Amino acid sequence: MIAVAAITGYLIMQSFPNLGTGLGLRTPHYSHILGTTPRIGWFEALSENYMDSGGRPRYILEQLAERYPVVLHGVSMSIGGTDALDFDYLRKLKALGKRVNARWFSDHLCWTGVMGRNTHDLLPLPYNAEVLRHVVERIRVVSDYLETSLVIENPSSYVEFAESTMTEWDFMVEMANQADCGLLLDVNNVYVSSFNHSFDPATYIDAIPAERIVQIHLAGHTNYGTHIIDTHTGHVIDEVWQLYGKLIERVGPKSTMVEWDADIPEFDVVLAEARKAEEVLAYA
Ligand SMILES: [Fe+2]
Repeated sequence: MIAVAAITGYLIMQSFPNLGTGLGLRTPHYSHILGTTPRIGWFEALSENYMDSGGRPRYILEQLAERYPVVLHGVSMSIGGTDALDFDYLRKLKALGKRVNARWFSDHLCWTGVMGRNTHDLLPLPYNAEVLRHVVERIRVVSDYLETSLVIENPSSYVEFAESTMTEWDFMVEMANQADCGLLLDVNNVYVSSFNHSFDPATYIDAIPAERIVQIHLAGHTNYGTHIIDTHTGHVIDEVWQLYGKLIERVGPKSTMVEWDADIPEFDVVLAEARKAEEVLAYA
């Protein structure tokens, strides 16, 4: 990893490599991937699936890490929560990162529990100055502990808070600048939230500075007519591809991966989706 440099008293975010197009590592594909070593730039592994488990999952990830770059994506850091940061969790995460030479660590802009209870949901936050201060402070502590700039993903959401005084995209940009962290821009999440809360997704995408974007997520979702649920199933829809194309045209090539978590098809179906992203990146 490239060293963090100091400028005007603040640390600036380290630069992360463009790994090209990647895929999420999913259990049904383990054997296929290790048996065939498909041409793909990198894999994203869900941190919690490998932190505590020895045995086969850990072995598979270590094998994979010898052949591909790996990044770690978590769902339990609860960066927006009010419980104290869980340093036991962070210690295990850091150790796993070292073992598989994780290129970076990401988690979501959310809270996942309170008073020690994990809801296993990525719950949304109000966007205002008080929450911003809280989240920025915690990101800085975590980045310090992990010795690398943390990467934070925009959530998909279904409710908004009356206490919010700023848009999610303004919050994300301000948070990234103040905490000096990277962003994982999930274009599908932007689309899902824009549908659910009636805003223009292009306004959101256009507001995110290129230099903060470390990674991009694409995924399918389920449209129920009145609302969209971020189910990570099915193909990426045309509107999301269009937003992605517009984004890449503006910011240049960025590490991109496709998430497919429900009704997981054969590896080659997911790979074909990644190839579409590869085409977009190739023309950037
Ligand atoms: Fe995502």
